[in-house]
Amino acid sequence: MPRKIKENWIVPSGQPLTEMDEIVLDWQARGYLVPSRDLLKTEEQIEGIRRSGIITNGALDLVATEIKAGMTTEDINKLVHEYTLDHGGTPAPLNYEGFPKSVCTSINDVVCHGIPNEEEMLLPGDIINVDVTTIYNGYYADASRMFIIEDTYPEWRRLVQVAKECRDIGAEACKPYTFVGDMAKVITRHAHQNGCTVVREMCGHGVGLAFHEEPEVDHYGMRAKSGMLLVPGMVFTIEPMINLGGREVFVDEDDDWTVCTEDGSPSAQWEHTYLLTQTGLEVLV
Ligand code: MF3
Ligand code: CO
Ligand code: CO
Repeated sequence: MPRKIKENWIVPSGQPLTEMDEIVLDWQARGYLVPSRDLLKTEEQIEGIRRSGIITNGALDLVATEIKAGMTTEDINKLVHEYTLDHGGTPAPLNYEGFPKSVCTSINDVVCHGIPNEEEMLLPGDIINVDVTTIYNGYYADASRMFIIEDTYPEWRRLVQVAKECRDIGAEACKPYTFVGDMAKVITRHAHQNGCTVVREMCGHGVGLAFHEEPEVDHYGMRAKSGMLLVPGMVFTIEPMINLGGREVFVDEDDDWTVCTEDGSPSAQWEHTYLLTQTGLEVLV
């Protein structure tokens, strides 16, 4: 039984308890991790994230039409950078904790946080994750897609598909007052049933007013009701990193960013930013 006893949910004194307060306070009293009230977005904030997401999506659509063998990852960086600026946005990765480019490009055994560069050329058979985050009017919207360059091995195609299913099945499992861990359990089961593994070192995250907010959205889990309680109004990403081989990863020492699979097997990832509504998750981008 988790005993976090973190008093995140505080009802201002003198304010009548809503139904939501009663449910959350009950979980909190039983020792479960609950959000703080300021994680719930206002209508205005949700609209801001949605607008920002239009740019993120537009940049990914542009990449989808342009991407091909012979292009470098720096070419993708330029596309995303210029598209974002042209639409009044700022690429969130650029200079984020020292990240030097405007997008993450992660090929084959690179799990995430690949840095675009002029030497890295896309080849037929490559699978690549392109991860775009936009800041528009102060609001952050984060999404990523996989692209297969021409065609690839059936096993790699299947990996790309399974990773997408993991995200979508996980999203389907998120209902009001379930937990992050309930979602992670579903993702983990689906990955394992398909002979794949789930990376544990990186997670999804709350997003909207900053790049990375609470909660931590772990994709690996065996225990129901672990992680944070999900309350309508929360905005967060689901972005499972799924490996065809072992789950172990390491960070490239040369750049301190690029995350690779330990055994060199390919990895795939798809990401949406979601809003939790009264009925379940809605894709914001
Ligand atoms: N977009 C990534 C995510 O989904 C974060 C990239 S951080 C960066 O959380 F600095 F590498 F851009
Ligand atoms: Co992302
Ligand atoms: Co993210």
